[in-house]
Amino acid sequence: MSIDELVGLVEYDAKNDPFPVQGWDAVVWSVGNATQTALFYQHVFGMELVAYSGPETGNRDHHAYVLRSGGVRFVFKGGVDPASALLDHHRRHGDGIVDIALEVPDVDRCVEHARAEGATVLEEPHDVSDEHGTVRIAAIATYGETRHTLVDRSRYRGPYLPGYVARTTGHPTPKRVFQALDHVVGNVELGRMDEWVDFYNRVMGFTNMAEFVGEDIATEYSALMSKVVASGNHKVKFPLNEPAVGKKRSQIDEYLDYYGGPGAQHLALATNDILRTVDALRARGVEFLATPDSYYEDPELRARIGEVRVPIAELQSRGILVDRDEDGYLLQIFTKPLGDRPTVFFEFIERHGSLGFGIGNFKALFEAIEREQAIRGNF
Ligand SMILES: [Fe+2]
Repeated sequence: MSIDELVGLVEYDAKNDPFPVQGWDAVVWSVGNATQTALFYQHVFGMELVAYSGPETGNRDHHAYVLRSGGVRFVFKGGVDPASALLDHHRRHGDGIVDIALEVPDVDRCVEHARAEGATVLEEPHDVSDEHGTVRIAAIATYGETRHTLVDRSRYRGPYLPGYVARTTGHPTPKRVFQALDHVVGNVELGRMDEWVDFYNRVMGFTNMAEFVGEDIATEYSALMSKVVASGNHKVKFPLNEPAVGKKRSQIDEYLDYYGGPGAQHLALATNDILRTVDALRARGVEFLATPDSYYEDPELRARIGEVRVPIAELQSRGILVDRDEDGYLLQIFTKPLGDRPTVFFEFIERHGSLGFGIGNFKALFEAIEREQAIRGNF
């Protein structure tokens, strides 16, 4: 299966796009210990170290490790200088995503459009160069303290950005278990989801995909609202959640409390063999949300799912969820939060035609999350 099929790409005409986006550039994290985190993502998530910046390369402020898995690029940063702004960010938010960087063909055109639509420009377009060429770069603000850096790397051949040196692991690491980034979910403030949908529509020319509201995502106790925006070809997809009023504290409320405001909640990583991915990660100690057997025995669900590529028992033994819509089906599973705070987590997704996000699983999923919240004393 091609990467395009894997992440549900659609045809589109870039001519009238006011803010053309080629795809994801990098997800940049601020973490408490980048040196150890980089090892975790190599040895547990099967990512490959490709570049580095730190005191040895003249960067006195922080360590930064650039890791890849197929089309996914993560950059893990941790403060070295006690005065590093990264440490302030980490004090406020814990391990989290500071930057969802996007690759664009024309940085200046994007920034001009964004500014005209009222976006906050954090970094004006400028060139950065080294012996590998020149990158044109700028940054705009999005929800919370998160930013979108816009990168045109068409004239650059280096391992990441100027200031970084190529670096490889030097010891054996496991095989890759995911190939592409499918979507990044943002949790925003109560009552502000539509503002952020409007931001992505106006400022970045994103279009609205599926819309989930109210009843769709309510359990007996808690609720949330969610809408999805996507770039023209659907390569970049941003579901946006806000808490809704329920009998108890929702998972979005818990996130906002512990992250200290809006931020990126989960990243969905696309795999072409979710069974192998889950087996490999579980063998290395990654914990996934448990799915009750009743989920697989529900006759309504069985009927709706129809035929999938493996027997249901294979999914049940691993806790993998299935959802089907008019276009096809998808298999998905969610990890528990990976950091110390109950904030950021991962989804693994294997798409077979479906362009959705697993709406049919939301109730079962949220009930599983509520069980975990209760164990943490936050429900
Ligand atoms: Fe998701």
